[in-house]
Amino acid sequence: MAVLPLLISLLLFPISGQTQQPNATSSFSISDPAWLPTDNRTLLSPNSLFSAGFLPHPANSSLFLFTIWVEASAGKPSIWFLGPVPSSSLLSISPAGVLYLAGPSGNNLFPSSASGPPNSSLLLNNDGSLTFNKWTSFSSPTNTLLPSQTSQKSISLVAGEYHFNGSSLLFHSISYWSTPGNTPILSLSSRGGLIVDPNNPQNSLVTNDYGEQKTLRRLTLSADGNLRVYSLQRQFGEWKMVWQAVLELCLIPNTCGPNSVCVPDQNYDAVKCVCPAGFRNSTTGVGCERKKNYLPSSKFFSLDFVQFTATQGTADMSPMNFYQCQSACLYNSNCVGFSFNFAGTQTCLNHYGNLVNGFWSSSTQTSLQLRVATTETDTSNFDGMTSRIQTACPVRISLPVPPKETRTTARNAAVIAALFALELLVGVLCFWAFLLRYSKYRDMARIFGLEYLPVGSPKRFSYAELQAATADFSNILGGGGYGTVYRGRLPDGRTIAVKRLGKSSGGDAEFWAEVTIIARMHHINLVRIWGFCAEKEKRLLVYEYIPNGSLDKFLFQPPAPDGTEHTGIGGGTRPFLDWSVRYRIALGVARAIAYLHEECLEWVLHCDIKPENILLDENFCPKVSDFGLSKLAKKKERVSMSRIRGTRGYMAPEWVMNDEPITAKADVYSFGVVLLELVAGMRCWDFRRDSVESVDWYFPRWAYDKVFVERKVEDILDWRILGSFDDGVQGETIERMVKTAMWCLQDRAVARPSMGKVAKMLEGAVEITEPAKPTIFYLTEEQLTD
Ligand SMILES: *[C@@H]1O[C@H](CO)[C@@H](O)[C@H](O)[C@H]1NC(C)=O
Ligand SMILES: *[C@@H]1O[C@H](CO)[C@@H](O)[C@H](O)[C@H]1NC(C)=O
Ligand SMILES: *[C@@H]1O[C@H](CO)[C@@H](O)[C@H](O)[C@H]1NC(C)=O
Ligand SMILES: *[C@@H]1O[C@H](CO)[C@@H](O)[C@H](O)[C@H]1NC(C)=O
Ligand SMILES: *[C@@H]1O[C@H](CO)[C@@H](O)[C@H](O)[C@H]1NC(C)=O
Ligand SMILES: *[C@@H]1O[C@H](CO)[C@@H](O)[C@H](O)[C@H]1NC(C)=O
Repeated sequence: MAVLPLLISLLLFPISGQTQQPNATSSFSISDPAWLPTDNRTLLSPNSLFSAGFLPHPANSSLFLFTIWVEASAGKPSIWFLGPVPSSSLLSISPAGVLYLAGPSGNNLFPSSASGPPNSSLLLNNDGSLTFNKWTSFSSPTNTLLPSQTSQKSISLVAGEYHFNGSSLLFHSISYWSTPGNTPILSLSSRGGLIVDPNNPQNSLVTNDYGEQKTLRRLTLSADGNLRVYSLQRQFGEWKMVWQAVLELCLIPNTCGPNSVCVPDQNYDAVKCVCPAGFRNSTTGVGCERKKNYLPSSKFFSLDFVQFTATQGTADMSPMNFYQCQSACLYNSNCVGFSFNFAGTQTCLNHYGNLVNGFWSSSTQTSLQLRVATTETDTSNFDGMTSRIQTACPVRISLPVPPKETRTTARNAAVIAALFALELLVGVLCFWAFLLRYSKYRDMARIFGLEYLPVGSPKRFSYAELQAATADFSNILGGGGYGTVYRGRLPDGRTIAVKRLGKSSGGDAEFWAEVTIIARMHHINLVRIWGFCAEKEKRLLVYEYIPNGSLDKFLFQPPAPDGTEHTGIGGGTRPFLDWSVRYRIALGVARAIAYLHEECLEWVLHCDIKPENILLDENFCPKVSDFGLSKLAKKKERVSMSRIRGTRGYMAPEWVMNDEPITAKADVYSFGVVLLELVAGMRCWDFRRDSVESVDWYFPRWAYDKVFVERKVEDILDWRILGSFDDGVQGETIERMVKTAMWCLQDRAVARPSMGKVAKMLEGAVEITEPAKPTIFYLTEEQLTD
């Protein structure tokens, strides 16, 4: 009979069968012998989920912590603990009924409320609480809160020098994160919500497995100062992180020692501490120390994007311009460097003593000017601002001579030319002025995969909120394969595009998880997701609004009626995009897709690349939209769905033929079509529609002959802006675009380059050899008819 419960517990918690201590009971009473930390004894809750007992201190194995942990979890992270205590301490119940555990100085670590009649027992309960008479461990949480643990007063968690007071994360008295509206968290709900304000449910913070009720979660203030929710994966016996407060880990104070700079790794889940130029690892093992004294003669290293948040040892000298700030620092022999903000605020800070809480972030507009000896031979290891902007939006492309006959284009080109010429000039001549302009483009640094989530997880909107924001879905922006897009405005003034998805998606939790993943895909050339809504059947995504609309509207404009000067369609003022802008669009889109294919946390196919899905911002920088949406479809439908989602004319041969699995190379093909259309200014399938019987009608094939056989690229070009085409550097750029397109349009998927390679080809970083000629063999009747 006793075998059955054991069997069940083995089935439910396979791990526990192996690690369970032999002397496990669910209570400890006065009749039990006193308990030494070195005894292999544990308390086990009646449901076998929780254990309590002495575990060695993680940092010092001669010390012990009296700990509660989840039995079936790897590494046994503590839910609650008391200690540390030396190995000679005893856990006992005195004859008077006082629960007693001696700390290092002999004092009782249990509070005086842990007492009762002499026959009281220390019990480990099914909810993970330890109780003795009226006392419960739930009333004095350490670093963790469990779902069943509600607090009358606000929650307080402590880990080392970090503290969570219910609404703010604090290091000593410095607050580095707060709940929305600074309202205290009341509890962790069984669905995975951190209930902040019952009257404003949308203010709740939710985990990315929100909605799953059967999982055990815990809210823990980790030793690194971050607040996280973990979810127990019972089948693996592991805690999986499903939410964390601070996404930019370097913003947590004291992550790195004095004078060192915290730099995040590419996946945002770890950081490294780097000594700035002129410094080396400190001999004490923590932080960095100067190699040379900066006196008597000093210069400054510019540490771009580096900021020190400490208020101690810092004098705010604002407002001052860069030179004044520098002079002020040089004048004071104690000044070790100064911080200057380039957002135009004239913020100037002079630093004295050790520099603490330094971090690198592409979203900061500050650079630290570090004072070093004139003889210092290091070079700054935090530069790259100039190279980064050049890569993000190439400034080296040659600008076209605006054609006389198209005034709108001329104005457009002139504006962009001026913008880039200015930046190039300023960038070379005057670094700080360049930085000032740069602050506008700081997002561009994100192209390096070094970006962050500046505002946390995507916000969950209620349906009512979005209904209000979009005036009851009245302003339609467009429609796509996945749903209709509406324009709206949030109460905070941001303009948004709301996409209402069909109800093909799975459950709440799955939708949530996928949106979280999509929202983590950050790239200057991807449209940002700000939030979402999942209510009953309703699924909506909230995107940033991109003002200029989609590429097709610019690219495929009908010619102006008089055939000469273009004034825009429908009374609008859409200029024709000039060559440099088209090149920039091509490069941006290529990089964004390469990012999706190669750099994302999850491998993502776009599956619907076409001009309609390429949006243009106010500077005509491209933003790819609709990425990741195939992830929102039900898993088993994904493959078949993606087959039908594609748009005729942009689908790769293997896709149309339905004979090979769809890979990233299908996106490469679609991009090839877009590339050709960018150059030609027309739909590929519109090319010589009237002469389908001729061999020449298949555009890629015809274009191939023009480039590689006849060598007359100009025949392919958009005739409407042909006048602005000059044969020099620009000719090379356009030729590169066409040749790259030919590689993308290869019939066989394996022959096509990867998207990363495509971007390199466009940049001119690799030589482009002659590809095989695209054929038309796969075109079926179905494709030829409309
Ligand atoms: C249980 O604990 C006692 C006292 O520490 C020890 O003597 C005994 O061997 C343990 N029993 C088992 C089965 O390990
Ligand atoms: C306790 O368990 C550990 C490992 O399981 C073993 O090495 C040690 O000898 C045990 N100690 C006692 C007192 O049983
Ligand atoms: C571990 O703790 C003991 C007792 O407090 C102390 O004597 C020892 O120095 C500590 N060891 C380390 C490595 O901190
Ligand atoms: C403890 O003893 C008192 C009387 O001495 C009795 O009323 C009570 O039920 C006992 N409690 C437990 C948990 O055995
Ligand atoms: C937590 O600390 C912050 C910052 O010191 C303070 O503004 C806030 O009121 C505190 N919250 C609670 C619940 O004590
Ligand atoms: C400093 O020490 C850390 C950790 O030991 C090491 O990873 C890093 O490379 C060192 N840096 C330098 C500049 O020596």
